[in-house]
This record gives sequence, structure tokens and C-alpha cells, in this order.
Amino acid sequence: MTNSDILDSFTLKTTNSKNIADLKALNEAVLPVVYSKRVYEQIVYFGDRFSFVVYDNNKPIAAVACRLEDKDLATYKINIMTLVVLDDYRQKGIGTALVKRILRAAKEQPRVVEAYLNVLETNTGAVKLYERLGFSVTSFIPNYYQKLEPSGCYVLVKKV
Ligand SMILES: CC(C)(COP(=O)(O)OP(=O)(O)OC[C@H]1O[C@@H](n2cnc3c(N)ncnc32)[C@H](O)[C@@H]1OP(=O)(O)O)[C@@H](O)C(=O)NCCC(=O)NCCS
Repeated sequence: MTNSDILDSFTLKTTNSKNIADLKALNEAVLPVVYSKRVYEQIVYFGDRFSFVVYDNNKPIAAVACRLEDKDLATYKINIMTLVVLDDYRQKGIGTALVKRILRAAKEQPRVVEAYLNVLETNTGAVKLYERLGFSVTSFIPNYYQKLEPSGCYVLVKKV
């Protein structure tokens, strides 16, 4: 089974106003950062193409959430804001498969030219996952996560 096939063992749903609470609950259970109501509104706005929740039967077990941002007047970049997989479901390729889905969806949009994300400086596992998918660290931003210590982040970028 390839990495992208692993999602076939689960139910994948695009994110909308009905299941945004599932995505929010996953993020709040796993991530050290609390995202605002506005961020979740943006996720719903782009959710039909760029955010997914994964269910094992009816239990939400993983999610990825993105938004489109202007790169310049003519093109967009996709910001992968959150990627979470519950502990019991890790190391099976689910995180990798979700990022691949996002990259595929981005490729289908001619004006989306880049994907990027910010990763907490201590999150070496996530940096490794993204580097394996062709992302490169382009910069380091000190004090990016104001409520965390350490608080710096790496910016990882990939052309799509
Ligand atoms: C980062 C995160 C999303 C990765 O999810 P995941 O589903 O475990 O990711 P993958 O399974 O695709 O890859 C993780 C590892 O499993 C390995 N793997 C993938 N498929 C595998 C399989 N079938 N069997 C065994 N190992 C496998 C990968 O090679 C990778 O190895 P590594 O530890 O050497 O890098 C998850 O750990 C998580 O939710 N972390 C907390 C939140 C977070 O940090 N999010 C990212 C920043 S927003």
C-alpha cells in the first residue's frame, strides 16, 4: 500500500460548517497553539478544496487545514495552517497522505504556485515529514509563537 492509499482505509470529508467543530477539537487536543474564530471561518471558506477531516468510523482522527493567500497580484500561495494526527494513528503515513492531497488540490489550481507553512522550531518530526515531501526551510522567524517557549518557527516552502 502506498502512502496515499492509507486514506482509503478511512472516511475523508472536506471541511464545512457542519464538521468544522471536529477539526477544531482535533487541533485543540493536539496543537499547542489556539486559533481564532476568524481562522476557522477561513478554513470553512476554502474547505471544499483545501481542508479535510479523516474519520475512523465516525471518530475524527486526523485533519489538515489550509487557506489561500495572495502571493502577488496574479498568483496565490497555499498556507498549510494545521496538520494533526491523533497519537494512536501516527506512523502509518496518514500525515504524509494528507499533505499530498493538499499538494494535488493546489496543482489543480493554475494560479496557486507555492505551498508553505510555519513549524515550531522544536517540531523536528514535522520538519522531516515536510522535507521528505520536497519542502525546504527558507527562513527562521524568532518569537513567532508569542505564547510558547521556545517560540521560533521555521518557514517551509515548496513550489507546486
Ligand atoms: C506531524 C504529524 C502530523 C505526522 O503524522 P503521521 O501520520 O504520524 O505522519 P506519517 O506517518 O506520514 O509520517 C511519520 C513517520 O511515519 C513513517 N511512516 C509512514 N508510513 C509508515 C508505515 N506504513 N509504517 C511505518 N512507518 C511509517 C514515516 O516515514 C515517518 O517517519 P519518521 O518518523 O522517520 O519521519 C503527527 O505526528 C502530529 O499530529 N503531530 C502533532 C501535531 C504537529 O506537529 N503537526 C505539524 C505541524 S502543524
